[in-house]
Amino acid sequence: MDSFSTVIRTASHEQHREAETSTFMSDLLGGRLGVQAYARYTEQLWFVYEALETGAGRLASDPVAGPFVRPELFRLAALERDLAHLRGADWRAGLSALPATRAYADRVRACAEDWPAGYIAHHYTRYLGDLSGGQIIRDRAEKAWGFEKRGDGVRFYVFEGIGNPAAFKRDYRELLDAVRADDLEKQRIVAECKRAFALNTAVFRALGEEFPLSA
Ligand code: HEM
Repeated sequence: MDSFSTVIRTASHEQHREAETSTFMSDLLGGRLGVQAYARYTEQLWFVYEALETGAGRLASDPVAGPFVRPELFRLAALERDLAHLRGADWRAGLSALPATRAYADRVRACAEDWPAGYIAHHYTRYLGDLSGGQIIRDRAEKAWGFEKRGDGVRFYVFEGIGNPAAFKRDYRELLDAVRADDLEKQRIVAECKRAFALNTAVFRALGEEFPLSA
């Protein structure tokens, strides 16, 4: 039987491709959008990580989600530095969530509060992705908009506390394989992971509508 980390990865494969090839992501990675689109995307991430990381302290002692809560993953402080760089010191004043972002953050918050195993699905979908494809986004962003390498503007993608991302991901998959959940609960986690991907894709769709390429 496949390990749980393999099951969750395989189950979300198709949706990963969909997210990766969404119009907004393709345009962003293809250098076809301006830095304002990147800033707007970064703002949306702020709401998602605010939901992921608020209450992480409480979840740290949870028997199911606790092992996943690792401070070296936390992204909120990095996002805030990036936003100060992208939007200026008063970045909070102009911050607004798209409806799709609000729906995503609400779902993360609901899981964090009521369903620790579901929280794991959201944790996996974001942080393992950031440690993987996030590095491609960082490279493109540095080149497209001239951010200092691993500096302000792309700190979100820089995990200062993780020296070896490949090793970290291996350990993370071991945590997934050892998750304290029965088969039915594991199925629910997989379903929540698919939902997490769909929530991300919905944010991309909304961003794509806000930043269409002029024909
Ligand atoms: C253009 C955007 C993206 C690119 C280029 C990209 C690329 C990648 C690559 C190359 C991997 C493989 C890493 C490995 O095998 O260790 C990966 C893994 C992953 N990505 Fe993405 N990705 C993108 C967007 C996303 C998005 C939007 C999400 C979800 C929000 C996401 C979530 C994940 C997850 C959860 C994994 C880990 C899979 C696993 O090993 O279990 N990615 N990504």
